[in-house]
Amino acid sequence: MYLELSFDLGAVDSQAAEGACWACGASALTFVDARDDAVNHPTKSGPTCEANSSPLDKTPYFVGTPVNHPTKSGPTCEANSSPLDKTPYFVGTPVLEPAPGEFRLWPRTRLRCLFAGECDAPAIARALGAALGLDPMSIEVRAVADRVWEREWLEHFHAMRFGHRLWICPRHERVSAPGAVVVALDPGLAFGTGDHPSTALCLTWLDAHLAVGARVIDYGCGSGVLALAAAKLGAGEVHCFDIDPQALCAARENAAANGVTREVQVHEHAGTLPPAADVVLANILSGPLCALAPRFASLLRPGGEIVLAGLMQHEVEDVTGAYAPCFDVAPFGESDGWVGLAGRRH
Ligand SMILES: C[S@@+](CC[C@H](N)C(=O)[O-])C[C@H]1O[C@@H](n2cnc3c(N)ncnc32)[C@H](O)[C@@H]1O
Repeated sequence: MYLELSFDLGAVDSQAAEGACWACGASALTFVDARDDAVNHPTKSGPTCEANSSPLDKTPYFVGTPVNHPTKSGPTCEANSSPLDKTPYFVGTPVLEPAPGEFRLWPRTRLRCLFAGECDAPAIARALGAALGLDPMSIEVRAVADRVWEREWLEHFHAMRFGHRLWICPRHERVSAPGAVVVALDPGLAFGTGDHPSTALCLTWLDAHLAVGARVIDYGCGSGVLALAAAKLGAGEVHCFDIDPQALCAARENAAANGVTREVQVHEHAGTLPPAADVVLANILSGPLCALAPRFASLLRPGGEIVLAGLMQHEVEDVTGAYAPCFDVAPFGESDGWVGLAGRRH
């Protein structure tokens, strides 16, 4: 059993609030949009508890000093340049990814803190109130039953079709549609079930365009959902890479569960990815996508295809510009404000 104490941040400094909660013995903290909280939990019934809620879910607002953007400087097409240490910034474009050390909040932010086991809620509320200048009575308290939180969302994950024949299906379900190409998926703690519009765009592209026998790279593979889809659709070899070890682990497990370990290779380092790929898939975010353009140029054969997702409509121009030296990319689809770009290597 856990106790959850929650309060609107108001004028309280977020870091001070965080520090006070840790000092009172909190075992987990979650900043949430108070407006969502009011909609989702009008009777204070149960947290969504996304301690690591994705920046993809919604556009947060800046607090504190805005980032200064130096002059636009897109990457060039040099295969051996190191793109990652010179992430470009673009003038006049909202930057969705937080800068190092930057902490973004909503106009009305609520802090939820979880306390494990037996604890004295009124005493904690008084201590927090004293430390942060809050009325202890304004701090809400409720009991939260212990659950396997990282598995809770699976209740909402069901088989989905992309394009004509490609299905992503949780491992506990079955698809019986005639001609269905089925990827059985458990994303573990990694991103990628197909329910995000940018993943859906890439899956739909694969269903429509992937050539049998292609050499594919899934860069930023998350759960491996795109790699597995490519393998099931007939790719000859698929190479995955991600900077998140959880993602590599999930991709490996999902490849084994789908019987495609021969086709799908998971790379721990980008440096071992093979050159001369026919297709590179990258569903990341606009900033990394721009920075990675030279690397992708070095991984694709001339005429090879690039599929980019994770960017929003207002970022299309910048990403297209970053790829212009080596690629002809153009939008191929849009969903819920998210845009997919595809094109060929010159
Ligand atoms: C939005 S998820 C996409 C996952 C999956 N490919 C999909 O389409 O659903 C982005 C993934 O890219 C990874 N990522 C972010 N920046 C990266 C980088 N510079 N290099 C490699 N992977 C990166 C993240 O760890 C995350 O797993």
